[in-house]
Order: sequence, then C-alpha cells, then structure tokens
Amino acid sequence: MTGAPVQPQITVLDAGGQYCHLIARKVRESGVYAEVRPSNTAAEELKGRRGLIISGGPSSVYEPGSPSVDRGIFDLGVPVLGICYGHQLMAHLLGGLVERGEKGEYGLAILEHRGQDALLAGLPERHQVWMSHRDTVAVMPPGFRLLASTATCRVAAMGDPARRFYGVQFHPEVVHTLFGRQILENFLFAICGCCKDWNPRGRVAELEAAIRRAAGQRNVFFFVSGGVDSAVAFTLCLRALGPRRVRGFYVDTGLMREGETQFVRELFERLAPGSVEIVEAAPRFLGSLNGVCDPERKRQIIGDEFVRIQQEILESGHFLEGDWILGQGTIYPDTIESGGSGQAAVIKTHHNRAPGVQRLLEAGSVIEPLSSFYKDEVREIGRELGLPEELLERHPFPGPGLAIRCLCAETEGMLEQHSEGWIAPLRSVGVQGDSRSYRAVLILDEQPGPEIQATAAELVNRLARINRVVARVAGRAPLGELRVRPAALSPERLGRLRRADAVVRELSRRSGFDRQVWQFPVILIPLGEAEHPDSVVLRPVDSVDGMTARAVLMDRALMEEMAAALLEIEGISSVFYDLTHKPPGTIEWE
Ligand code: XMP
Repeated sequence: MTGAPVQPQITVLDAGGQYCHLIARKVRESGVYAEVRPSNTAAEELKGRRGLIISGGPSSVYEPGSPSVDRGIFDLGVPVLGICYGHQLMAHLLGGLVERGEKGEYGLAILEHRGQDALLAGLPERHQVWMSHRDTVAVMPPGFRLLASTATCRVAAMGDPARRFYGVQFHPEVVHTLFGRQILENFLFAICGCCKDWNPRGRVAELEAAIRRAAGQRNVFFFVSGGVDSAVAFTLCLRALGPRRVRGFYVDTGLMREGETQFVRELFERLAPGSVEIVEAAPRFLGSLNGVCDPERKRQIIGDEFVRIQQEILESGHFLEGDWILGQGTIYPDTIESGGSGQAAVIKTHHNRAPGVQRLLEAGSVIEPLSSFYKDEVREIGRELGLPEELLERHPFPGPGLAIRCLCAETEGMLEQHSEGWIAPLRSVGVQGDSRSYRAVLILDEQPGPEIQATAAELVNRLARINRVVARVAGRAPLGELRVRPAALSPERLGRLRRADAVVRELSRRSGFDRQVWQFPVILIPLGEAEHPDSVVLRPVDSVDGMTARAVLMDRALMEEMAAALLEIEGISSVFYDLTHKPPGTIEWE
C-alpha cells in the first residue's frame, strides 16, 4: 500500500538536485499536492498534470549523460517551470544557448525585473534571491522574453507567456530567496490554475480506511525505533485495526541513547499496553562490535545483526504465514529511487528494504501508510493523533546509533602543528566531489565564531589532507600535549559517549537550542591524555533532509556551560566544535 492520496497537480522532475524534495514540499505547503519523479519520465505518464517543474541539479547540459527530460512534455499544453539546471535545460532543448561559466555564482544576489509578467507579479522591482550555478543561459529560446537579471547573470528569469514556459536561474524554493514562495505561488495559481487540494491535517480518517482496506483480514506487525515515522505509522495502524491486530518489536541494540529504551517502553505503554515487545539484543551487538575500528565494518556488523534479528522474529511468530503483514514508517523521500546522489537510498536500505522485507514487499505483504508524506507532514499527522510533542519534535537518529558517533583509531600519534592549526592523526568520513572521503581533522585553537567558520571552509578547500575542521572550546591540557591512542568500539567508550550525549541533550533542550537545529550529534574521539583518553565534539547542524547540512554556531554562554559539564565526565579531556558544513564533512563522523 503506497498509493498517492490524490492525483498530483504538479510533478517535480528530479534532475539530480539536492533541492527537488524541497521544491515539492514548498508546493505542498502552498496547499497543492505535488510528487517527485525522475527527470526522464515519459510525457505520456505526465498527462493530466496542471504544471511541471524541472529541478536544479549539479550537471552541465553539455556533460555526456547529464539528466534530460522527454521533449514531449513541451507538447502537453501544460505550463513548465525550470529552476537552475532546469532553466538551462529548457533553454538548451528549446533552441536557446547555454554558456559554460568560468567561476559561477554562489550566494545572495539582487534580482531586478526587466519586464512585466504573471510569474513576478505583485513583487517589488528589486529583491533578494539565492543563486548557485556555474553555467548560464546566454541566448533565450525563440518566443521567450527576458523577465529579470542580476548584476552577474543577465537571463536570471525568462518566460514565454503564450506557451506558459518559464525558467529561473535562482532558487525560489530556499528561504534566502525572499519572495520565493510568492513566485512559486504565482506559477501554481496564476499560471497553472492549480486549486488547493492538500492539507496533511484532516487525513487521519482516510488513512485509517486505507489501512483497513490494505490489511483486509490480516494483522500487522512493526519494528519500531522510537523515532517519529515508525511511531506515527504504528499508531495509525493501532487506530485502524485495534490493538489486538497490531504488534510491535523494538530492538535494543545497546547502541541507543541514555534512557531510550525506557522512553520507548513508556510511549507505547501509554498508547496501547502490551503492544510493543522490547527485544534485548545489546550483548549480541556489543559482542560482535567489540574491538572493531573501521567505520564500514561497524556498519556491516550492525546491519547484518539487525537483519538476523528481524529474520528470527519474522520466522518465530508465524509472521511469514498468510495472516500477518509488515508495517513500516517509510516516508516519501525514502521511496524515491531516482534520488539525488543516491546516498540517502543507500543509508536507508538495510532497515526498510532488508532482504526479508524485500520478499514481503514482493508478496504484497507490506503496509506503509506514510509513504506519500514528508517529515513535517508526518509530524502534523502525529499531532492530530495526539502523540506527545516530545516524540514529534525528536531529531533524527541514525539506525546504527552511537556506534557511528564513536570514532576509533588504529595508530597512536601526536598532533602535528602547522601554520593553519593542528592536524590530528584521526580520520573521519566526508563527502567531497560526490564521493566519500576518509581524511584527517584540522584543529584550530580558537573559540568557534562566524569568522573562524569562514576560515574553516577556506582551509578544507585548500588543504588536501583534511575534510573537517574543529575549534577547541575547552580542555584540560594544551593541544600540543594531546595524543591520539589506538581505540576501538568498547562498552567503556560507548558508555562515556552515552553520558556526554545525555548531558548535551539535556542542556540543549533546557536552553531551547534543540529547536534551532535539525540534528545535534555528539561525537567521541580517542584524543586526550593519560587519565582522560577521549574528547567530545559538538556537531549541531541545520539541514532539510540530511543530504546537505550547515554547521550551526551557538551562543557563548551555552557552549561554555556544555563544555564545563562535559569535562566533568570521567575520561573526557577536551571539548571541540565541528565547524564543517556538509559537504565536505558528513554529519556523522562514523
Ligand atoms: P551523513 O553522516 O551521511 O548523515 O551526513 C546524513 C543523515 O543520515 C543519518 N544517517 C542514518 N540514518 N540509518 C539511518 O536511519 C543510517 O544508517 C544512517 N546513517 C546516517 C544521519 O544521522 C544524518 O541525519
């Protein structure tokens, strides 16, 4: 069961941009149901839409194999809006000319209107937009008029009102484009003639009816995690089918946060007593992980162990026989296979698409009631179901848990002093030029702040050996005296990290800082001195979907309070602050 709730009025054609889901979400926030499809979807399949949007993407139209669209979409008689790469692609396909840019334009710009048009109606003549591109449209296709320019980009907006084709070089979907929402709404309502048909609220009854239809006489069982998606999907099924027909399992891997198992137990006991069983599997996971150092090995062991436990449960309780189906909290971005860099898909497969699950999917024995919704929409549904805010506002937490926040090292070494800072013989995972990197960390002996963050970004670009920059907030000894020691995953280090994470979580909740960030990982690194062999890194980030992220700074008083509390923890030597955006650093250190 994954059907869309209504026929989409708008399809966003994904040209590989990190922003395609953001565009679809913004359209839905304006009350219009939108879906995301691969850019090359056949025009035939797009008949009946009121409008199409071609997203941005990292490619150049001149690169072999760069994303394209079915030219037939321009004969459907529906309006088309190209954004960034989509704008260039339209110019390229419709007879204009795209020029390779030398340097590109990244950041804020002022858009100046050059002509009157429905797309920019009701806006001031000059306003701020967000640009991120290298190539530009040099010659507009026949039939197009110039609508707006910036200082460095002449064809920043173009339109052919007769055919209702539009292109914008800037990104209307991001908040930095001040009138972005209005531009999108001009396209949706004035140009496409969309009507408002979408509000995730008020859909609960319909979702429950769909679950009843899909389940028929069968019962549903879930693997719940304590996260928002599985809890909301589980609750919907409970309401639709009644507590006797719904069962949940929560696997305690021993890699969870402090108090997590208790949180999950209490949450589900309140919802439906006895509906969720806790599977104590910590000894199994910690046993297989003890002494392991390599990030990919950790993931492999955890993934395999998880799949084995799922399979054992599946086979033990007659769940593989006809009258049970599997329920999952899969949400819309997880279902998109074409996806941007494909990274999200890889990240999620081992949980929602493990081999045993795959078999059930093929047999039509999986129910995913949230597969058409974005996270914020799932939160709205959860609110309507009366689930506690404490659950709904939780930050995402990775499946492999604390294991990928407990950095390990194979060799011993001192910090090396360079003119830019200190290089630690520690490696963390990053993402550079679309592929994974595994490189050293640069430490700056300065307090985090906007200036040093700008320096950090410049240093990662310049120094090939590193993919991450941290600043030191506090420490027990001078940096020159710290050393990295060989360290693997051990119950002792995981315990230390669990405590540090709990301390940070409590202070960020109390100060309200947790609501200013999308996620706030706390990392343990094997850098310290004899008595205090480890240090802690604070990694608060802002993001839309985790694919890209911005390192967020916090105010000095809170940072000092956190650092002081962390240095009280047994074995902790220093507190660092990660200044690295994603890319080039991933959110987790692994
Ligand atoms: P990275 O570290 O790749 O993480 O920048 C991006 C986002 O994905 C989360 N993450 C995971 N989530 N299973 C999950 O459910 C995983 O294996 C996994 N690995 C990373 C991470 O917390 C961040 O939000």
